[in-house]
Amino acid sequence: MFSDDFPQLDILNKMFNEKYPFMASTVSNGYTAFGNPWAYEIEELLNKMFPSPDMLSNAVDGYVRFAMDVTRRQSRFDDEGAYPQKSFAQVADEVYLNHDYMERYYLPGLLLSHLLWPHHFRQSRFFVANFLADMKIKGAGSFVDAGVGTGFLSRLTLATCSDITGIGFDVSPASQKFAQLQVANYKLADRYQCKLLDLCKQPTGVETDWLISAEVLEHLEEPLVFLQKLRAILRPGGKGFITAAINAAEIDHIYLYRNAKEVEEQLVSAGFIVEQYQVIPAYKPRKEDIPPPEVVAFIVN
Ligand SMILES: C[S@@+](CC[C@H](N)C(=O)[O-])C[C@H]1O[C@@H](n2cnc3c(N)ncnc32)[C@H](O)[C@@H]1O
Repeated sequence: MFSDDFPQLDILNKMFNEKYPFMASTVSNGYTAFGNPWAYEIEELLNKMFPSPDMLSNAVDGYVRFAMDVTRRQSRFDDEGAYPQKSFAQVADEVYLNHDYMERYYLPGLLLSHLLWPHHFRQSRFFVANFLADMKIKGAGSFVDAGVGTGFLSRLTLATCSDITGIGFDVSPASQKFAQLQVANYKLADRYQCKLLDLCKQPTGVETDWLISAEVLEHLEEPLVFLQKLRAILRPGGKGFITAAINAAEIDHIYLYRNAKEVEEQLVSAGFIVEQYQVIPAYKPRKEDIPPPEVVAFIVN
């Protein structure tokens, strides 16, 4: 189906069909929704990050387990209307500091979700069109990515702005390693470093005009305190791209935002001015009284 121009995507499609028939439409759905630009982007990502059949097969296994875990937790959330009570320390032990879990499931799952989950892909398009484009036009010289995860947005930024340098921060050694690997595989490593840091407890020691922090707020016990720290590192006149997940139960989501307004109120109380935002639901509501998971992205200054 995709074999001529997109051989790796074709293999990915076959793996879903053969190993996980209940997810057989994953690749065709992406292609139908987003067409060739999407296919070129995922083809490149698969080539850079999972070039051999074994690597791709392991990544698919990780993605499927990650996605099934999200589905199971979301179904429980739909019944209970709350995330299970967890401290940040518990989540750090269970997830961020758990190398095996991070490397086998979380990081490949999260990375592929950026392309395979329509709401994640739409959010990255919003980032490219409204934030990265502005960075490029204004000749941004450097950026900070707070909570890099897989390094997906750091890598997009380095690849788009040809002279820019970046610093990423993450509390997870596995994230730090994976983000560095992604950037290195795209031959961008000479302009980037990722540092190990708990952003809620330790100062970054940097200031920036361009700040990225995507899908971190809901992982924290006190996101407002974190936002105040982010505001302090963003120079006057600088811009930030800050996102959050809403009504989205995942293994490491602690703080429940019930709507985008709650995130906006915290941004404003931390001292940010909201320039624009976009809310993207993961799917259409399945029942009238059960909100679907959403992601919201803000561009702030
Ligand atoms: C969902 S991932 C972020 C995704 C990433 N920004 C992206 O767009 O791909 C959340 C990340 O935040 C990191 N994180 C959570 N709490 C943190 C903290 N207090 N300090 C630094 N990093 C943290 C986790 O280790 C994890 O890698």
